[in-house]
Amino acid sequence: MTNVLSELNNNVLTITINRPDKLNALNQATLNELDELITRAKEDHNTAVIIITGTGEKAFVAGADISELATTDAMTGMQFAKFGQRVFSNIENCGKPVIAAVNGFALGGGCELAMACHLRIASDNAKFGQPEIKLGVIPGFGGTQRLTRLVGKGKSMEMNLLGDMIPAHKAEQIGLVNWVVPQDELTPTVQKVAQQLANSAPIAISMIIDAINKGLECALPEALDYEVKAFGICCASEDKNEGTSAFLEKRQAEFKGK
Ligand code: COA
Repeated sequence: MTNVLSELNNNVLTITINRPDKLNALNQATLNELDELITRAKEDHNTAVIIITGTGEKAFVAGADISELATTDAMTGMQFAKFGQRVFSNIENCGKPVIAAVNGFALGGGCELAMACHLRIASDNAKFGQPEIKLGVIPGFGGTQRLTRLVGKGKSMEMNLLGDMIPAHKAEQIGLVNWVVPQDELTPTVQKVAQQLANSAPIAISMIIDAINKGLECALPEALDYEVKAFGICCASEDKNEGTSAFLEKRQAEFKGK
């Protein structure tokens, strides 16, 4: 793979979108590679946490590749959007925590990619936006939907209709990112959060992700019922015995994902 790099260290898989000369724009080949890596990571017992970032200090991902978009008709446009949505939903529902380390521009498909991740940590030079309107189109990889769920209807309307970029600190204020850190602290901060997640109980982690994702799709009674069942599954795990015993014995828990 050349468009996307990957490296596994201490159960943390770092996926780096690698087209710096095109500000890491997502063309079809890049999306294919990203999809393959996520699918593999889902099944890989050595991968506990995934980090997604972009090569360089300028861009996380500056959007879908506009040179490909330029020649897209209705049918290929729908296919491209459908595929991109599938790749991003695969990230959102992969059962392992995915952190977006937003190291610069996160525009269009880049903002959508970050929003499909479970946590977003941004460097202070990052900029976010859904500028598709300026190209005469709309977001196709979930931007009208995930942004609304994350920041509410008013801000989502504003960002999608005006298409203007917002700086990282503003994105933090509206709940689009979890933390903003100085650029040189991005990697150590993300690694620290990733290690904390990698040392946590994997079944409980995946149940939290599932319960929050599924809960957003249904009415509260159904969502609460889902939580009850997920809680029951966690109670039946060896990790729950380990976690409660470790607390009572005043020692660090060692979770095994069983
Ligand atoms: N698709 C394809 N190529 C892109 C791209 C994209 N989404 N975003 C940037 N690039 C390319 C540029 O065409 C340029 O390539 P070139 O050197 O071969 O001409 C290179 O990346 C550098 O970008 P450039 O525009 O020169 O950098 P800049 O610092 O002046 O501006 C941005 C940075 C992010 C403001 C600007 O590139 C931009 O607006 N990009 C498009 C963002 C967008 O609309 N995304 C949604 C797409 S649906």
